[in-house]
Amino acid sequence: MQLPASEQLKTESGDEPVRKHHSTTAEYDFMVVSNRLPVDRCSTSERNGGNSEGWRRSPGGLVTALAPMMTKTDGAWVGWHGAPDETVRPFSHDGMDLVPVQLSTDDVELYYEGFSNATLWPLYHDVIAPPEFHRTWWDSYRNVNRKFADAVVRYAAEGATIWVQDYQLQLVPRMLREARPDLKVGFFNHIPFPPPEIFAQLPWRQAIIEGLLGSDLVGFQRPSDAANFMRSARRFAGATVKQQQIHVKGQDGHVIHVARARAFPISIDVAQISDLASKPEIIERARQIRQDLGNPKTILLGVDRLDYTKGIGHRLKAYEELLHDSSLKVEDATLIQVASPSRERVEQYRLLREEVEGTVGHINGTYDTIQNTAVRYLHHSYPVEEMVALYLAADVMLVTALRDGMNLVAKEYVTARTDGSGALVLSEFAGAADQLKQALLVNPHDIDGLKSAIMRAVNLPPKEASRRMKAMRKQILDHDVDHWSAEFLAALGEKVVRDDS
Ligand code: G6P
Repeated sequence: MQLPASEQLKTESGDEPVRKHHSTTAEYDFMVVSNRLPVDRCSTSERNGGNSEGWRRSPGGLVTALAPMMTKTDGAWVGWHGAPDETVRPFSHDGMDLVPVQLSTDDVELYYEGFSNATLWPLYHDVIAPPEFHRTWWDSYRNVNRKFADAVVRYAAEGATIWVQDYQLQLVPRMLREARPDLKVGFFNHIPFPPPEIFAQLPWRQAIIEGLLGSDLVGFQRPSDAANFMRSARRFAGATVKQQQIHVKGQDGHVIHVARARAFPISIDVAQISDLASKPEIIERARQIRQDLGNPKTILLGVDRLDYTKGIGHRLKAYEELLHDSSLKVEDATLIQVASPSRERVEQYRLLREEVEGTVGHINGTYDTIQNTAVRYLHHSYPVEEMVALYLAADVMLVTALRDGMNLVAKEYVTARTDGSGALVLSEFAGAADQLKQALLVNPHDIDGLKSAIMRAVNLPPKEASRRMKAMRKQILDHDVDHWSAEFLAALGEKVVRDDS
């Protein structure tokens, strides 16, 4: 919903249109709330290259799925714009109304880097790294969640539907229910939800569960995540659970609210990836990548945020052993490892980078020849076009996460393999394993098992490869990200009959 130019105001910098009615009385029927807004700041070169608005849409399925809803309904997206201590007024971009939440340098350090990414992230991913518990981080998490909730309360129309995203904002649903009981509130957790035996470590476990239980519907990636949450709701918030209904009780023991919890596995923008995969220039780029690597027999590919949950070390260990025992030869095989920079100010991420880069250096130092390199390590993020070219260039995709909510890279690889070739080695600890059953499933902790799965993938007979890839493609084509959001929002809109049995 775009206002005519005459009704738009300019920001202080003069380059982003701001909708007039934001100033005091804007009201939206549908609002998405996530830690980050779905836009990134453009670089200076992009600005000089003609992008005068200063923003570009962030890559990723979530924004693709929800952007049409933003424009069709009277919708807005609430989130942080990525720069600390900077006030950005509400603005429109690409047909979406955006409401920025301001975070101070302290908020970023304590709420984002601290509680979100050094307490909750490791706790929710099987404590692969030790979570840290600090009361100052918790205070900040609460305060920042309040800022997001306040933005919704200010802009939401009577009876609006609010969809809160992910672990950074688990207190928002309850804050909304208390301030605005007229709102319909959904929450989706993109990462795993831990079993109560692990969740129990969190000193603020009850407040987190009660925060989430402010929702009408809480969505998870896997049924096991939903089950873990329901067990914690019972144990730490005294709720009664009946099927997928969670009965929340007030002081006097009466049921005051019914929340529901269920799995809604997220997916990707299938049309975008398929279209790119059939573009001649991308196919040509894939050929070029192979050629630049000396046309090896096998290209293996790993694509991850540089995160300790992704099992990059386990993958490198298995690969190194395969080179060591000559199952693979550097003349025949190359591993491209894209590791996009992530959360670089958080200690565990710094340590991981040192460790991965040390291992890559060691492997290459041992096995490289003047002509061949064992691991082509790329600590960059790439645009989706280059990613699809890499998917097309790779014979084997390695997804060896130790724990992962979903893993959309696995789904993108399969979608890009329009001719049915290629092989996917996939960790059973990634949510995607529930849907991509024809992948070569592995336990990444079992290095011998991982090595055999990699060798099986390298030598997979074309007929079998194609049978597996086609079955997986069908699953994804039938369940793209639009399907995910439509299903969640339909369930959120359902009238709930309380199960009092
Ligand atoms: C995961 C989380 C998202 C997060 C993303 C990138 O996918 O589920 O909520 O946005 O990682 O991490 P960052 O900390 O850079 O936002």
